[in-house]
Amino acid sequence: MTLTYPIESLKAHPARLSPDYRSTIKRSPQKPLVIMRHTLSELSGPVYGHETVREHDHDLTIQHKSEPLGERIIVHGHVLDEDGRGVPNALVELWQANACGRYIHAVDQHPAPLDPNFTGAGRTQADSQGYYRFITIKPGAYPWGNHHNAWRPAHIHFSVFGHAFVSRLVTQMYFPGDPLFPFDPIFNSVTDEKARARMISSFDLENTKPEWALCYRFNIVLRGKNATPMETK
Ligand SMILES: [Fe+2]
Repeated sequence: MTLTYPIESLKAHPARLSPDYRSTIKRSPQKPLVIMRHTLSELSGPVYGHETVREHDHDLTIQHKSEPLGERIIVHGHVLDEDGRGVPNALVELWQANACGRYIHAVDQHPAPLDPNFTGAGRTQADSQGYYRFITIKPGAYPWGNHHNAWRPAHIHFSVFGHAFVSRLVTQMYFPGDPLFPFDPIFNSVTDEKARARMISSFDLENTKPEWALCYRFNIVLRGKNATPMETK
């Protein structure tokens, strides 16, 4: 059993080897890939139980005793196919640094504070139109040691699961106007300028909540000429 998807969107995705992004030198394959046929259970087996997504998992600001520090934001959008149709019921997960640019992770020891009220992970299931919505705080930029004075632009990691485990896609969402864009080898590992722009959310004043939170829209296009660049292609 083989699923066939259009392949023109593959041009949008970063090459496995992007030498300016240093870890790809060791991480990228040295030999041509061996294509394995997917098994029936990989293509049709259940990925996750709908019941495991809880009602408030989309709100990263209410996971602890108090609210996290930082700028509260709404991030929402649609998961879309190549024809602009919503992809219903996709599992959308995100993870991110806190407002100071620090992750809760053993290898993130740079001198910025952890926030006891912020874990930095959330998930939700898109509705029947492919619409999803998160409430979180705006992540900070952080240093990452790729080269001298290397800083990641503020970003949120996204994972989208479709109908099967092998359909997982991973990308990063950025914020408009970030001065770090020209200096970030990960952002620039997507070599096509228009494709890079599709990783940048748009400020959404219409859905900004007065006195409460700014809003950003980020549509995730799974394939086709408007595909969002993905890390796992
Ligand atoms: Fe990150």
